[in-house]
Amino acid sequence: MKKLAIIGCGGIGKYHLGHFLNFGDIIELVGFCDLIPERAESFVDKAGCGKAFTDYRVMYDEVKPDMVFICIPPYCHGEVEFETIRRGIPFFVEKPVALDLDLACEIRDRAAAAGLITAVGFQCRYSSICAPTIDFCRNNTIAYVEMTRMGGVPGVFWWRDKTLSGGQVVEQTIHDFDIVRYCFDEPTEVFTFGARGFIDMENYNTDDLSTTVVRFKSGAIGCFATGCYAKSGNACEHRVLFSAADKRAEHRILSRVEIFGETAEKKAAGGGFVIGGDGGMAEATGNSLIYKATNDAGTECDRTFIEAVISGDGSKIRSPYADAVKTLEFVLACNKSMETKAPVSLKLN
Ligand SMILES: NC(=O)c1ccc[n+]([C@@H]2O[C@H](COP(=O)([O-])OP(=O)(O)OC[C@H]3O[C@@H](n4cnc5c(N)ncnc54)[C@H](O)[C@@H]3O)[C@@H](O)[C@H]2O)c1
Repeated sequence: MKKLAIIGCGGIGKYHLGHFLNFGDIIELVGFCDLIPERAESFVDKAGCGKAFTDYRVMYDEVKPDMVFICIPPYCHGEVEFETIRRGIPFFVEKPVALDLDLACEIRDRAAAAGLITAVGFQCRYSSICAPTIDFCRNNTIAYVEMTRMGGVPGVFWWRDKTLSGGQVVEQTIHDFDIVRYCFDEPTEVFTFGARGFIDMENYNTDDLSTTVVRFKSGAIGCFATGCYAKSGNACEHRVLFSAADKRAEHRILSRVEIFGETAEKKAAGGGFVIGGDGGMAEATGNSLIYKATNDAGTECDRTFIEAVISGDGSKIRSPYADAVKTLEFVLACNKSMETKAPVSLKLN
């Protein structure tokens, strides 16, 4: 049984803890650390085991974990990872991995030099709907990618301060930027417009919305729009569209993908559920195939990292730290473009 610890017992820490409570067959929960003692103590209560700490160094000294989940806000990264690496502890860290690309590259290089297994919380990559989308992008010439994510302002205090969260693109819509990299292609250049003035909220100093034009290695271009000004579900939207000359795939993260114009041999006569070419269950409509998510991506994401640490084989991890740094570069480039009002080229790919 391997020993697992958590640093950061806030919203996302709670989400991971919910998964860990079902992993009693492979892990022992030994330590929970938060700067706010009551938060760490509440995790001990929920887990029914382990010990609460306010200093991760003390936790490391006392419980000597075999792995750690680092669930701290975007502005808190750096020393936590460096100390974890110094001690040779494999780590899972939440996105965005940092707010500064040089810092993320330093953490990446030190973790690699230490030979550590790492993973980042891009759980959307583990959804069963990624396979048909990847298949679609490989088998068709994608000319255009359109991503839309419109929603509201999350409740945590640090989110509305761009210096602490990085802003919506970096903190939240990073999932969508990442899924496009994962399913389709690497970006080479971005040009982003940001806008403010639609949100009136105390201590709020970030962009209300932005639109990014993306150039991809393949020659395709994309248009990514995201906003946090929505106050009603009627104004919310969340989808990524991959468009080819005679077909398109509409990927709704963690939920479903609908492929318009999919080949006739995959369809069941008169509609209904069929087995798609990749073995997944799909629903055939008049002119489209719909793949609905059949797994809990978050659980799979966490378990994959834990099993990798146990086996020593990190090959099934879909988002190792080094790859997540490339997604960070993508979103930070959007911020830079907003600031400089000029296109920004990406270097890591
Ligand atoms: N993967 C996802 O879908 C997803 C969803 C939500 C949040 N997140 C990410 O998770 C991170 C945390 O978000 P959250 O909503 O849980 O924030 P939160 O504010 O609810 O919780 C963060 C906790 O970390 C603690 N903390 C900060 N520095 C610490 C340190 N040095 N030692 C111990 N504890 C420390 C804080 O006291 C706080 O309780 C963010 O980067 C966010 O983007 C990811």
